[in-house]
Parts: sequence; structure tokens; C-alpha cells
Amino acid sequence: MTAPLKQRLGVLLSGRGSNFLNIADAIETGRLTGCEIACVISNIADAPGLQAAHDRDLTTETIVSKGVPRAEHDAKMVAALQQHGIDLVILAGYMRVLSPEFIRAFPDRILNIHPSLLPSFPGLHAQAQALEYGATIAGCTVHFVDEAVDHGVIVLQRAIPVLDGDTAETLSTRILAEEHIAYPDAIQRVLSGRYAVQGRRYIAR
Ligand code: GAR
Repeated sequence: MTAPLKQRLGVLLSGRGSNFLNIADAIETGRLTGCEIACVISNIADAPGLQAAHDRDLTTETIVSKGVPRAEHDAKMVAALQQHGIDLVILAGYMRVLSPEFIRAFPDRILNIHPSLLPSFPGLHAQAQALEYGATIAGCTVHFVDEAVDHGVIVLQRAIPVLDGDTAETLSTRILAEEHIAYPDAIQRVLSGRYAVQGRRYIAR
């Protein structure tokens, strides 16, 4: 009997890569099933996450974005992802806004994780934004990517309390631990196909 085909994930990252490593571990340990990481692509040549992917013998690519017009850079990203036969694009700390052309190339097939309970605190430094605003609940959101920043349909959120002594660093660390639970769970849900989207609502089937 031939093994069932695995869905192919394309991971995009710009930095440390802890979400990528956590997803890779989840696949390796069987917590996340039915998929494989087919490529890891970074827009930053010396991103530690890219080196970590290389060390794990994964296929890596660098497509530098600095100084390149967005449309041109994204066209290269889309071509690379298509070449690797990617079924689902996973943004894991990929700190670039995607062009509409990129998003249309993978309709409802791009996931992002953001370190806040969207729609609160989109954009950069979400954890510090939550702290400065005086939020008492923080967390993370996994969502489909649409043409507005940090805006698409929410697949899953995890919430934690903000503690009195929290700094941006301590809050970020505790949110990151939730991200590492949320992202593999959300990917598994999306890969299963057992959901419908009604308006902005993700409904599990
Ligand atoms: C994570 O906290 C992720 O939620 C955030 O960047 C960090 C990447 O960490 N993403 C965004 O803010 C996207 N708007 P990692 O490189 O260790 O996965």
C-alpha cells in the first residue's frame, strides 16, 4: 500500500523562527499529521530561523526583499512556492506585508500568527501595545491572510491574563508559549478541511 500523500507546507520567516521550529517538532513527534515542510523561505539572509531549517536538512531559500519593489519580490516568492508544490503557506514571523498578487496566488491557503487577540493591536510590537493600553487579557491569533493587514478570518485564538509585574518581554514569552500550542492546532484544523467560513466566522465541521 502506498502512503497517503502529505500536504506540503511552505514556511516563510524573517527572524528567530521559534514558531517554525515548533511546527517542525510537532510534525516530527506526530502532534501534527498529514503534512511535511517542503520549504522554508526567508527574506532575510541571516535569519536564525533559516539557519535552523538548514541544520535540520530542510529545503531553504533566501529571497532578499531589501531594496526590491514589493511586487517584484512577491512574484519571486510565489514562483518559489509554486515550484515547491506548496499546499499551505505558513507565515511564521514573516515581517512583510504581502501584495494582493501574492494573496490571490494562494486563495484561503495562507495562515499567519499574530501575538495579540485581533482585532486588538495589529501591526508591530503587539505585546507592548497591549501592555501600554492597559489590556488585562492578551494572547495570540491564527488567521487566514487577506488583503488587509492582520485582518483575515480567525481560525483560533488563545488568551492569557496580563500580570501586574509584566514587561513587554515577560508578556511576549508567555504569549509565545501559547503561540506554540495554537499554530500546530490551527494548521491541523485547516489541513483537515473540516470547516466552513461563513462571513468572517470559521465554523468547525
Ligand atoms: C511571533 O511572536 C509572531 O507571533 C510574530 O513574530 C514572532 C516571531 O517569532 N509575528 C508577528 O508579529 C506578525 N505580525 P518566531 O520567529 O520565534 O516564530
